[in-house]
Amino acid sequence: MTSTTQTEPQAESDYAAVGGAPAITVVVNRFYELVLADDRLRGYFDGIELVRLKRHQVALVSQVMGGPVAYDGRDLRTAHANLHITADDFAAVAGHLIAALTEAGVPSEIIDRTVSAVAATQPDIVEVSATEA
Ligand code: HEM
Repeated sequence: MTSTTQTEPQAESDYAAVGGAPAITVVVNRFYELVLADDRLRGYFDGIELVRLKRHQVALVSQVMGGPVAYDGRDLRTAHANLHITADDFAAVAGHLIAALTEAGVPSEIIDRTVSAVAATQPDIVEVSATEA
């Protein structure tokens, strides 16, 4: 055990810093509204059960913010296979997440970290790269 572990409270996750589950629920509900109101995106979610969709949103936000969420769904590559998601779709979803976080008053450095973590999932989710289009 090194001397730097568990000596300072600053190891708090972004998930905890923004207010935990109640705050994430507000962000998730707003993100969900924005995605389904977006004509570019809503078609992807046709026929997807609300429960599944909610799990999608909660997992997305909680995981990337370091929340204590034991995600037990499919890995992201499998979950998004055959959906033919483009880089533009991905950017639109990420944009809605940024909007929901911003509206909820989440500090910009936490938004930056969250967006970086989400961006790192792009190779697993985007099937049609911009260069192939
Ligand atoms: C931005 C990063 C994204 C993350 C971290 C993410 C994460 C997830 C997760 C955790 C699930 C649940 C998997 C399961 O139920 O086992 C899921 C499902 C899904 N995602 Fe995403 N997603 C992202 C982007 C997108 C984008 C850009 C689209 C489409 C435009 C999309 C469409 C879907 C759909 C349609 C499902 C349901 C698939 C099914 O149940 O068959 N996701 N996503």
